[in-house]
Amino acid sequence: MNLPCVIADTPLAENIDELLEGKVEILPWDTPAGSQDSSIEGIYTYGHVHVDGPLMDRLPGLKVISNYGVGVDHIDLEAARSRDIPVGNTPDVLNGATADMAMALLLAASRRLIEGDTFARSPEFTYYDPGYMLGREAHSSTIGIIGLGRIGLQIARRAGGFDMTILYHNRNERTDLPGEMGARYVSMDELLGQSDYVILSCPLTADTEKLIGKRELDLMKPTATLVNVARGGVVDTDALTTALAERSIYHAALDVTDPEPLPRDHPMLLLENVTIAPHLGSATEQTRQQMAEISVENLLLGLGGDPLRVRVA
Ligand code: 8YV
Repeated sequence: MNLPCVIADTPLAENIDELLEGKVEILPWDTPAGSQDSSIEGIYTYGHVHVDGPLMDRLPGLKVISNYGVGVDHIDLEAARSRDIPVGNTPDVLNGATADMAMALLLAASRRLIEGDTFARSPEFTYYDPGYMLGREAHSSTIGIIGLGRIGLQIARRAGGFDMTILYHNRNERTDLPGEMGARYVSMDELLGQSDYVILSCPLTADTEKLIGKRELDLMKPTATLVNVARGGVVDTDALTTALAERSIYHAALDVTDPEPLPRDHPMLLLENVTIAPHLGSATEQTRQQMAEISVENLLLGLGGDPLRVRVA
């Protein structure tokens, strides 16, 4: 039996391989410029490999692009639209896990958890001293969420449980928020100037690329922490490295960086006032299983010429 051929940035997680077994033939990402391959009917993006118009044109039999994840900044959606190629992604199922991660980073930074863990394991920890490693209050602080979308809303709910004052900034004020949430719409500059924790949870687009640069970091309080669970590209890495080195902000807690990963000799990796996770926002067994199921369903539906379960373009 001839199975539809799909290119993917392999290796894929075991659960995805299992879902695809016997349904498609997965070929590794190998599409040299200048060559055409009309046998390929699908693209499955697992990491953040770049999918652009020229790649689509090299695959004239392409019927669908399915992305494992919600963020599709690595896929040229306009190019897909203009070629009538549906693009699927996996929103919503990862809102809770990613919001949990934002709070985990916020708490780790404010309560110096990583530093504390290192110290507690080290030979230096020989007696308890109530005077060491004082952090900053998380509860009852002010949180500023840039990008109050599906994930941002979940972060706001969690912030409410921490008795935080909640500010947010979007392109437009949201008129559909439950009143009891008490999230106040403010300008970017007001949010940056007032927040103890600035959370980035917006998509990376042409409008949000390097949204946080030197000017914005200068507006933040010296006691404030920047938390990024969006995309590394939303922040100007050089400007952030300088701000942290000069301690013009208190801390940065990053689930994502630009580039990702940072070069192993990047100066940011030597700074004490930064906490970095290797892009773990949606990395729970339960969430990743749901992402696998939806992205595989999108792929198979598209290969069959049927409407996708979740179509982003
Ligand atoms: C995914 C993410 O794990 O969904 C997203 O946009 O950033 C992550 O949660 C990732 O995209 C998988 O490659």
